[in-house]
Amino acid sequence: MKTIRFLPICISLVFICKISHAEQVGTISLPGSDKSYTEKQINDFFDVPDWYPDSHPAMPEVVQYGAKPRVFACASCHLTSGSGHPESGSLSGLPADYFIRQMKAYQRFQRDSITGVMIGIAKSMSDEQIREAANYFESLKPLNVQEVREVDEVPVTYINSRFMRLVDKTKNASEAIGERIITVPKDEFRVKARDPFATFITYVPRGYLVQGKKIVEQGKASAAACTTCHGNDLKGTEIGPPIAGRHASYLISQLRAYKAGTRRGEADPGGIMADNLKYFSEQEILATAAYIASLTR
Ligand code: HEC
Ligand code: HEC
Repeated sequence: MKTIRFLPICISLVFICKISHAEQVGTISLPGSDKSYTEKQINDFFDVPDWYPDSHPAMPEVVQYGAKPRVFACASCHLTSGSGHPESGSLSGLPADYFIRQMKAYQRFQRDSITGVMIGIAKSMSDEQIREAANYFESLKPLNVQEVREVDEVPVTYINSRFMRLVDKTKNASEAIGERIITVPKDEFRVKARDPFATFITYVPRGYLVQGKKIVEQGKASAAACTTCHGNDLKGTEIGPPIAGRHASYLISQLRAYKAGTRRGEADPGGIMADNLKYFSEQEILATAAYIASLTR
């Protein structure tokens, strides 16, 4: 008889525990935000997490929700702050006319991107959507989300299924940096949560910053000083877009693309950047990118 009387209590206890467990699992929150999202919501390409709504102007629909089926929400990869991740890139503060020209270039296959993702997105967007996105990102203040450090050794890392380079915690070891530039999140949890203010550490080999500074300020055979067109602080001029403090991996991929001729046409009017890069070695590309990444935005 006693067990029968306790049975309903036991059942309801199990039920309550199950509910609170379900609420906890997959519910992610960030400091200073009253929002919470599941992992699935965070990675929803058609409805981005908006952790800090007061930190940015109202997002145009295409930035927040994209347009099904092919236009993924811009803020998903580039974040609501426009700061982006090392595997996508930063859009904040880019002049709208430069931005629009890049979208035309993707549409015309004059720029490539990892898995061609930007080509697919750009080709499915209307001129109106492109302009709205360009105006939104132009209005955002560029943030410094990357600290550049010269080192001999880096943590052992791997690339996950979302193209993020992360520290391999199963190995918990370091290795020689060699001639490589390695960027990892300062706080992996915040980066995976698509926190618009998450920050990164970029490790570069010793000597790269001095070498890169010299190239940027003095140029080299065939290349004028980068400051001539991008400004003394590389924060952009009427001629060249802002490049200071951009993600190192983005800078490297663009410099390689100009050299290889895969970034061209609308994305390199007059072939200016291709000419600049003609006689750059891979090592010089890395050193130049390391120094530019270390500058304040
Ligand atoms: C799935 C991830 C992803 C989404 C979503 C995304 N992008 Fe991108 N975007 C990228 C990557 C990766 C690059 C770098 C491509 C390259 O190397 O050219 C990029 C680069 C860009 C650039 C070039 C920046 C520059 O400095 O020249 C623009 C402009 C841009 N994206 C606009 C957009 C817009 C507008 C949207 C929304 C409609 C969007 N992106 C959505 C991944 C994404
Ligand atoms: C003669 C002028 C000129 C010089 C010198 C110059 N640039 Fe540029 N650069 C440009 C222009 C113009 C663009 C934009 C091309 C476009 O509209 O697509 C550009 C684009 C870039 C971009 C792409 C930015 C983005 O958002 O994707 C990078 C990176 C860059 N330059 C780096 C450099 C570096 C590094 C140097 C020095 C070695 C340099 N530039 C020298 C004119 C110049």
